[in-house]
Amino acid sequence: MKNPVEEISLLLQTDMDAVNTIILQRMDSHVPLVNQLAGYLIAAGGKRIRPLLTLASTAIHNGDMSRAHLLAACVEFIHTATLLHDDVVDESDERRGQATANEVFGNQASVLVGDFLFSRSFQMMVDDGNLDILRILSDASAIIAQGEGLQLSSANNIETSMDDYMAIIKAKTAALFAAACEVGPVIAGGHTGQAEAMAEYGLNLGIAFQIVDDVLDYSANQKKLGKTVGDDFREGKITAPVLYALEKADAEEQEFWTRVINANQKNDDDLDHAIALMRKHKALEQSMGLAQDYADKALESISIAPDGELKDLLKALIKFTINREY
Ligand code: IPE
Ligand code: IPE
Ligand code: MG
Ligand code: MG
Repeated sequence: MKNPVEEISLLLQTDMDAVNTIILQRMDSHVPLVNQLAGYLIAAGGKRIRPLLTLASTAIHNGDMSRAHLLAACVEFIHTATLLHDDVVDESDERRGQATANEVFGNQASVLVGDFLFSRSFQMMVDDGNLDILRILSDASAIIAQGEGLQLSSANNIETSMDDYMAIIKAKTAALFAAACEVGPVIAGGHTGQAEAMAEYGLNLGIAFQIVDDVLDYSANQKKLGKTVGDDFREGKITAPVLYALEKADAEEQEFWTRVINANQKNDDDLDHAIALMRKHKALEQSMGLAQDYADKALESISIAPDGELKDLLKALIKFTINREY
């Protein structure tokens, strides 16, 4: 049985091949370090969900697929650049089942190659030559960077609220999902309502995606996830599972959370204790419930898109986002 990501990839295989060719062409640099590092992360694959969204949202509206190829590659570059920077900031050591680029090449190289990929993505937007597209994707890039900034300033702060958390994940993750989807109807010259509906679908899907990512950070099988479990806890990030556990915390538990989040003092068994508290208060289930609310909104948003196989797959992708293990 194929999952929806594999099914969309198969349905749009020629398009995805074209995207991968563009990715390889455009990441090319005469500086060997840049080539090596970008190639290292890109060759590790990843789910390629965002470029698939761009392809699907263009195809479903009968847009020009050659423009979609370039812009889907552009979207994956923005994503890859943010991952390079994110792993430096989060001091992560595993991504896509291998050592992170910062582990292998160092923080300095990762930051610089992240900048290179961001810049390349802007060159690709310019090559596309449409100001609406440039606005959508450049807005998203600026929003992501601010989201990561907001997250950094909220880390180790027990006062971080659910509203703060939602603002962070909308910016750092959902904005790019929304942009990747909005590009399709814009390429196709569709009406504003279509572009808004696709952006809405992407935004809600992206919010659900990040909430699930934050649950997986406490509950996943690390081998399947391809990233280190417990990174968020180590970094003192206030995510949905922590917020729900905090909501029900008694005085002693409050003290525990304050110590591990605010004071950033952690013992070896603190992560296990945090997970035990989350289980006690059903914080992971509640987080999944929250993710499901946004999944439902995504389903609602896509209802006006033209019916057919692609729409069914975009709906199935919502389910995959919720049920995924990686
Ligand atoms: C990782 O995104 C960053 C988040 C927004 C959680 P993905 O889970 O899509 O990463 P890859 O591209 O598949 O590795
Ligand atoms: C998503 O947040 C980061 C970006 C959108 C760049 P995370 O920090 O949770 O992502 P992972 O878990 O490292 O992939
Ligand atoms: Mg991270
Ligand atoms: Mg994460």
